[in-house]
Amino acid sequence: MPESVPVPLAAGGVGVLSEEFEADPYRHFARLREHDPVHHEPSIDSWFLSRHADVRRVLTDHDTFSTATLQERAEPVMRGRVLAQMTGAEHTAKRKIVVRGFTGRALQDQVRAIRSNAAELLAPFLPLGRIDLVNDFGRPFAVHVTLDVLGLDKRDWRRIAAWHHGIAEFITSITLTPERRRHCLDCAEQLEAYLLPVIEERRRDPGEDLVSRLCAAEFDGVAMSDRDVTALILNVLVAAAEPADKTLALLFKHLIDHPAQLAAVRRDPDLLPAAVAETLRLTPPVQLIPRRAERDTHFGGIRVPAGATVFCMIGAANRDPDAFTAPDTFDLHRPDLGTARSFTAAAQHLAFGSGLHQCVGAAFARAEIETVAAMLLPLLDGVRHSPDAAYRETGLYTRGPVALPLEFTPVPTPAPTSVPTPVPASLPTRPPTHEARTR
Ligand code: HEM
Repeated sequence: MPESVPVPLAAGGVGVLSEEFEADPYRHFARLREHDPVHHEPSIDSWFLSRHADVRRVLTDHDTFSTATLQERAEPVMRGRVLAQMTGAEHTAKRKIVVRGFTGRALQDQVRAIRSNAAELLAPFLPLGRIDLVNDFGRPFAVHVTLDVLGLDKRDWRRIAAWHHGIAEFITSITLTPERRRHCLDCAEQLEAYLLPVIEERRRDPGEDLVSRLCAAEFDGVAMSDRDVTALILNVLVAAAEPADKTLALLFKHLIDHPAQLAAVRRDPDLLPAAVAETLRLTPPVQLIPRRAERDTHFGGIRVPAGATVFCMIGAANRDPDAFTAPDTFDLHRPDLGTARSFTAAAQHLAFGSGLHQCVGAAFARAEIETVAAMLLPLLDGVRHSPDAAYRETGLYTRGPVALPLEFTPVPTPAPTSVPTPVPASLPTRPPTHEARTR
């Protein structure tokens, strides 16, 4: 095969931007990995990598692959510089400020907020014996919890959620109509206008919340500008809320579809970390991570030219048989899962990315999902899919269920705050440390 000419999709293959692919990408990953692991998509002149080793290489070789594509995607809606586009000392210093807001003592306090938000949002549904885990609970829950951490007013959650949804749409859309583009930019402007008076107030009268910490933080002896603080708030809002509700819904879908594993987790909640890690491996909510090739580079016989946009296909990489045995099976007992390191920089799955830009919220996401799942499992007795609901997922960039209607035995006297809400003893209190990486 001559250099630079990618192998065409195997017979019966579909393009990664087709509707058929979006309907169920998992059906196509094996063919991509085996026959077209460095897939070129001519309509957007971008490359899609599906093998675990190639994806890991892109995410950790920071000299060859930069986050410049993210910068272009994020800049118009983030109003300032976000972590993904920073490098060197600025990235290390500002990342540390955000990490501190989500780990250690701060995390222990946040677990209380996670529990009370979950109890409040669940209460109306318990006597009904039915809940849509995505729309009734997961989405509002993930936004409420993130607003609590940031110190923003939860009474405004609906409009904040609508604005940050528009921002996320801008960043994660492969193509966008002019109307949608205008809508997304409008969302960013409105959210910025909402945040500026809050920032001003926290500079005058700081609290313990993340917005106050960002306002008080200095880089190179200089306080961050309003624009810098705004961008980091948007960064956390968008990064935290979207994948968390998807992971929670996917965890319950997998457990309900595997009754023996559901029964095992109910019997032994210490299995929850493994169930969450396996959910993230099998169905990662962030499916694509973009990078730009800074120089000509080769994958096998194929040359990816300098300047090219490269998409890491996390869903495909996590199901690579070279990385995990029986990779298409949900098995929280799998010996190669490595639960303890699944939420650290040493994770074998790539759901949190890898390298310097690996997710800063991994420990928080784990606490959030494990805490709420530990609350839900004893409450949702006999939990099952609603019989008349067809399951559907959506999204190429971030992916999750459109809805997850569930039925369970109604809880007659809803007193969720009096229900024991165990916090898994094994919750981590430290962020992923890149020093801890064992590759
Ligand atoms: C299950 C939940 C989550 C998943 C699957 C997830 C996934 C990811 C991934 C794949 C990246 C790497 C992007 C890249 O390399 O370009 C990332 C980065 C990031 N995540 Fe998460 N995330 C989750 C939850 C959270 C939470 C709760 C927060 C809140 C603090 C958060 C904040 C961030 C930030 C700020 C970055 C950028 C880090 C940097 O560029 O240095 N994430 N996340």
